[in-house]
Amino acid sequence: MLGTWCLALVASAVAVAHASYHCLPGAVELAERKNLKNPQGESYPLGIWVPDWAAGYAVSAIAHVLIEEMLGYNVVDKGPGPATPDAFYALAGCETPTVINRRGCSDLMSIYSHLSLEGWTTAYQSSWDDVQRDYPATAPLNLGAMGYVGRVSAFLTSKLQEEAYYSEGLTLEYYRSYNVSWTNPSKYFDNITAIDTSRLKRCNETRTQVHAAMQQYWEAQLISEVLFADILDSVG
Ligand SMILES: *[C@@H]1O[C@H](CO)[C@@H](O)[C@H](O)[C@H]1NC(C)=O
Ligand SMILES: *[C@@H]1O[C@H](CO)[C@@H](O)[C@H](O)[C@H]1NC(C)=O
Ligand SMILES: *[C@@H]1O[C@H](CO)[C@@H](O)[C@H](O)[C@H]1NC(C)=O
Repeated sequence: MLGTWCLALVASAVAVAHASYHCLPGAVELAERKNLKNPQGESYPLGIWVPDWAAGYAVSAIAHVLIEEMLGYNVVDKGPGPATPDAFYALAGCETPTVINRRGCSDLMSIYSHLSLEGWTTAYQSSWDDVQRDYPATAPLNLGAMGYVGRVSAFLTSKLQEEAYYSEGLTLEYYRSYNVSWTNPSKYFDNITAIDTSRLKRCNETRTQVHAAMQQYWEAQLISEVLFADILDSVG
């Protein structure tokens, strides 16, 4: 009996939600919501470029509801894009923003993606600068931080680090230790067979193909080496 009651309640709640299309009290009615319009008279919903990771979906969904129900604009989700720079190109109006070496940009671009949230921007300054330089008329604006920060890095458990260090003096936290002429760091990691390769991309579909991006990565490594040397100097 109890089970039937619960089911009935859920079903009626769903029916109410569908009839009104509201999440929030005081929402602008569906029929009253506006589209954007460009100078040529073309009309379209506001596009949110959605980043393809959990927090990207979450904040995009919140913005979607707020803009529709509180500001009264029709909203459509665009993308998703697996990397932060995809959003830079999408917002500039490029037609294939997720294709690394062919973003589909031109001088005559119409913009259907207008907003993107959750950019992990630190490593992508050169991509941002490229878009600002090459497409100044349509390049996106940075409206500021989300109110929270995140860091990305490789993660090694301290147990693993200590095992490698105390058994053979191998410092897994330092990238120059990953040199097979000297050591075999792979024995501290899972075999490739443990990875579902259908979830990997081919090298030619990743940023390893972008010279400027790889140069920036390499220089960041050199900077960390210099900083390391400075620290040793000041200690010594
Ligand atoms: C790895 O070590 C060998 C032997 O010392 C050296 O010749 C080579 O340049 C090193 N590789 C890298 C990428 O540093
Ligand atoms: C990974 O596993 C395969 C299949 O079991 C094995 O043939 C290969 O030697 C392993 N590679 C390493 C680096 O352990
Ligand atoms: C990457 O290489 C594979 C295999 O050669 C090819 O099928 C694919 O089209 C390439 N992708 C791009 C984006 O060039």
